[in-house]
Amino acid sequence: MQKILVTGATGGVGTRLRMLMKGLYPSIRWSDIRKPDDLAADEEFIVADLADLAAVKTIVAGVDGIVHLGGYSIEGPWEMILNANIVGCYNLFEAAYRAGVKRVVFASSNHALGFYPRSQRVGVNVTVRPDSRYGVSKAFGEALGALYADKHGLRVTCLRIGNVGDAPLDQRRLAIWLKPEDLVQLIRIGLEHRDIHFEIFYGASDNADVWWDNSNARRFGYKPTGKADDFRAQAMAAQAKLPPDPIGDRYQGGPFCSDEYDADRAG
Ligand SMILES: NC(=O)c1ccc[n+]([C@@H]2O[C@H](COP(=O)([O-])OP(=O)(O)OC[C@H]3O[C@@H](n4cnc5c(N)ncnc54)[C@H](O)[C@@H]3O)[C@@H](O)[C@H]2O)c1
Repeated sequence: MQKILVTGATGGVGTRLRMLMKGLYPSIRWSDIRKPDDLAADEEFIVADLADLAAVKTIVAGVDGIVHLGGYSIEGPWEMILNANIVGCYNLFEAAYRAGVKRVVFASSNHALGFYPRSQRVGVNVTVRPDSRYGVSKAFGEALGALYADKHGLRVTCLRIGNVGDAPLDQRRLAIWLKPEDLVQLIRIGLEHRDIHFEIFYGASDNADVWWDNSNARRFGYKPTGKADDFRAQAMAAQAKLPPDPIGDRYQGGPFCSDEYDADRAG
C-alpha cells in the first residue's frame, strides 16, 4: 500500500485518524465535502461530494487502498442518507473498481444490527437487523462491498464500528466502545493482510460486556488494547443521569431503536 485515500476526513473519526495514521503509509490523501480548519501544509486534501461520481473518480485516482468513512453518520432524513450513504457509497465502490484500487475498508456500523436484543451474542454470519435508515444504509454498503469483492476481486473489509472515543460514555458503550488505536489496528488489517477477500469485523475493543463474537477479526491478528471495564465507574455514573428508555435499553442499537418506534401500537 503506497497511497491511501481516507474519505470523511473532516469528521470526528477522520480527525483522529489524521493524527494516528500520520506516517503509516508513504502517501495519504484525505477527502471530505468540507475542509478541516487545521489542515497542515504537508497534508494532501481534496474537497469532494461523494454523491458526485465525477468528483469521486478524481479522489480515487492513483490510490491503492481506501478507508471509507465519509457519509451521514447518524439517523437523518431519507434524502440525506440517500445522497451521502447510498449514492455516495455506490460511487465510491464503482469508482474504486474502475480505477483499479485494490482494497476498501468500509466504516459500517453496529446500527446495521441494532435490533438484536442485548441478551443475544451475534457474530458476522447473521441477518442484518437495522435500527434506522442510517443502519439500512450501512447494510447496503456491506452488500456493495460483498458484490465488488465477489464479482470484481476488490478486497473489502467492513468494520461494524461500535463507538469510537477516548472512553465509553454510558452503559451501552461499555459493550461497544472502540479505542481509536484499536480502530487503526483494524484498518491496517483491512489494508494489509494478504488473506482479505471480503471480511466483516466488529469495531470493538476488549470489552467485558461485549455483545459480539469478534473471532473473525482475531483470526486476522486483531489484538485490541482498550478495555471498557477500566472506565466502568464513570460510564455508569453517566448512565444514571440518563432518562429511562425501555425500548432502547432492550436492544443493542439503544436510542436509535426507540427513535420513531411505534411497533407496540401495531395491531
Ligand atoms: N464515530 C463512531 O463511533 C462511529 C460508529 C459507527 C460507525 N461510524 C461510521 O464511521 C464514519 C465516521 O464517523 P464520524 O463519527 O467521524 O462521523 P462524522 O459525521 O463526524 O464524519 C463524517 C464525515 O463525512 C462527511 N460527509 C458527509 N456527507 C458527505 C458527502 N456527501 N460527501 C463527502 N463527505 C461527506 C462529513 O462532512 C463528515 O466530515 C461514518 O461513516 C460513520 O457512519 C462511526
